[in-house]
Amino acid sequence: MKLIASIDQGTTSTRCIFFDKKGEIVSVAQKEHEQIYPQPGWVEHNPEEIWKNTQEVIAQARIKKGIKIENIVACGITNQRETAVVWNKRTGKAYYNALVWQDTRVGKTVEKLEKEFGSDWIRAKTGLPLATYFSGLKIQWLLENVDGLREDAEKGEAIFGNMDTFLVWNLTGGIKGGIHITDVTNASRTQLMNLETQAWDDEILQKLNIPKAMLPEIKPSSMKYGDITAEPMAGVPIAGILGDQQAALVGQTCFKPGEAKNTYGTGCFMLLNTGEKAISSKYGLLTTVAYQFENQPVHFALEGSVAIAGALVQWVRDNLGLIKESSEIQTLAEAVEDNGGAYFVPAFSGLYAPYWENTARGVVAGLTRYVNKNHIARAVLEATAYQTLDVLEAMEKDAGIEITSLRVDGGMTVNELLMQFQSDMLKVPVIRPMMIETTALGAAYAAGLAVGYWENFDDLIANWGVDKTWTPKMDDTLRDKNFKGWKKAIERSLNWED
Ligand code: G3P
Repeated sequence: MKLIASIDQGTTSTRCIFFDKKGEIVSVAQKEHEQIYPQPGWVEHNPEEIWKNTQEVIAQARIKKGIKIENIVACGITNQRETAVVWNKRTGKAYYNALVWQDTRVGKTVEKLEKEFGSDWIRAKTGLPLATYFSGLKIQWLLENVDGLREDAEKGEAIFGNMDTFLVWNLTGGIKGGIHITDVTNASRTQLMNLETQAWDDEILQKLNIPKAMLPEIKPSSMKYGDITAEPMAGVPIAGILGDQQAALVGQTCFKPGEAKNTYGTGCFMLLNTGEKAISSKYGLLTTVAYQFENQPVHFALEGSVAIAGALVQWVRDNLGLIKESSEIQTLAEAVEDNGGAYFVPAFSGLYAPYWENTARGVVAGLTRYVNKNHIARAVLEATAYQTLDVLEAMEKDAGIEITSLRVDGGMTVNELLMQFQSDMLKVPVIRPMMIETTALGAAYAAGLAVGYWENFDDLIANWGVDKTWTPKMDDTLRDKNFKGWKKAIERSLNWED
């Protein structure tokens, strides 16, 4: 049986999944990598560990089902976006750990740039507000803090990439001639690409003092880029690259303007397809590239990015030790009727959409002696639902449409309590498809379309089916009271960092 390989390089782990024509999983392997926190607010990954894990998960996924190389038609790549790595193209070695999207070390630079130039100019060009989130300021930090790096970058010897670029370069030969490319969705998250021209923007590069020579070439999201030369998948063409949230949009087959999805992973990201029109946001959303298929125009999306969703459950597990497995959070939360008045605002990396407050930090608010660990578990789950409601409200205002149902995916959608609460708070049906691994599937779709494994969008839409729908049950008075409590808690989290 012919298959498509998909590599999903996420924030906490790397996976390789093989899909068949029906979009079903044939084999999967996954490996977590270390989260490095050198100081409060800093988050790093070791790029060499990620490259090693990538090779391992490909090998494991192949071995599990005895997948022969001649049966792998193409490979798609999807990745945590914005995470920045700079490496030397002669040695293949990274100059520093990868700076992860959640890292807030450039907070002061954001303030300085705001004072110097304001922030409207960069938002108008890139669709993104000045924030710690995107790659550009992370590259600038590396250039200013790593000895000798700027010199090498100017010579084009030190090269930058998000994780897609880093993996493609290594997969296609590395120091022996790896290709240095990215796709237009990933490029749109660097804050260095002009949304209108879809090229690197000279004015931004000059203001941030970033040499163009270190940047990858920008390509569509679906085309044959080149063949893999590295084992264990040598000879297979790479034919799709998409940032992970855009990949989920494709995996959910949201190809029509007005179709939206919400992915519950480390963070939580709602994307609304706006077609060939880039809508600039007035209510705190991002304008971003949704996808570009070969020889087709670029399609855009409005995005509501929430930095911490599943990561809060992980934090409760790893940093508080309140649970041993992430799945236990639901059991704990189910033991009580409500949050007992407690709210958890997980502003660990500041607040993203729709607030964009770099100096916010996490708070638990509304505590009394009545509150116990079950209420906290509930507050932890509810935090994701409230953040999604904040984003959905902004999206309806920005796009001028009413969202009447929401397609969801990602790991946290197995949590029934969260999904019901989500539907209650949004007042719309929440729909979980049969396949919730939509991120990996979207990258597989991009690769499969490029090589003719799937003919067209109709083939993909035919693969989509509903698993479960949650409908709103909560009365309006309670809903409004809940949301009011959340808004008060948000107030408490603001202006924490100096
Ligand atoms: O923008 C960050 C995003 O791409 C990370 O996604 O799935 O690791 O939460 P995820």
